[in-house]
Amino acid sequence: MTLFPNMFAGPFGESIIKRALERGLVSIATHNIRDWATDRHRTTDDYPYGGGAGMVMKPEPLFAAVEAVLVGVEPGSVSVIMLTPQGRLFCQPVADELAHHERLLLICGHYEGVDERVRAHLVTDEISIGDYVLTGGELAAMVVVDVVVRRLPGVLGSEESAQFESHEGGLLEHPHYTRPPEFRGWKVPEVLLSGNHAQIARWRREQSLRRTLERRPDLLEKAALSPEERRFIDSLRREV
Ligand code: 6GU
Repeated sequence: MTLFPNMFAGPFGESIIKRALERGLVSIATHNIRDWATDRHRTTDDYPYGGGAGMVMKPEPLFAAVEAVLVGVEPGSVSVIMLTPQGRLFCQPVADELAHHERLLLICGHYEGVDERVRAHLVTDEISIGDYVLTGGELAAMVVVDVVVRRLPGVLGSEESAQFESHEGGLLEHPHYTRPPEFRGWKVPEVLLSGNHAQIARWRREQSLRRTLERRPDLLEKAALSPEERRFIDSLRREV
């Protein structure tokens, strides 16, 4: 549900999401909230009661839009998620939870805010994608859709499988290299050319741990690490 359905064409019309749509692994509909505005000017916003700057999204078009789209759907069976900076913070575990739902309905908030009765009586969940303020919920909705769709079965090939990527398993990824083996004098680490898969796996895991310690030590708290890996981290901490 959006006032700007055209914004979604780019992200949904390219690359992995496009392919998932074409293969019928997911379907996405965008609905223009303005289509449910009933007055002559098709108004979707109004001045805030009590005064102040900015406009507020009116409740009637949003209720009508959601009720029309969910007609015939068992009440309470679909999460109605509003994208708002006041929502719970979006992260990989939230995406994994959403990926288990058969269907999601996302509402993109705009203007200074949305009439509180929408939150209280229509919406079942509120999500923010980070601690900054976007001009509207659309970009956040695209982020949520992108992250959720790539977790759906069959969307990623086995090659690009999500399992070992950044933030999955709670660590940052190891560095990647491809040909040539030397570029402007910068060499690919020898171990990657060695063909020794056990050694390569160990190097990658170590790089992951180093990177995470350097850049996102907060992630190490929650990461699933073996006692040996904990000891390795402790030894790195003593190095610095
Ligand atoms: Cl979901 N909406 C807006 N307007 N700003 C945001 C956001 C959402 N998440 C982070 N910033």
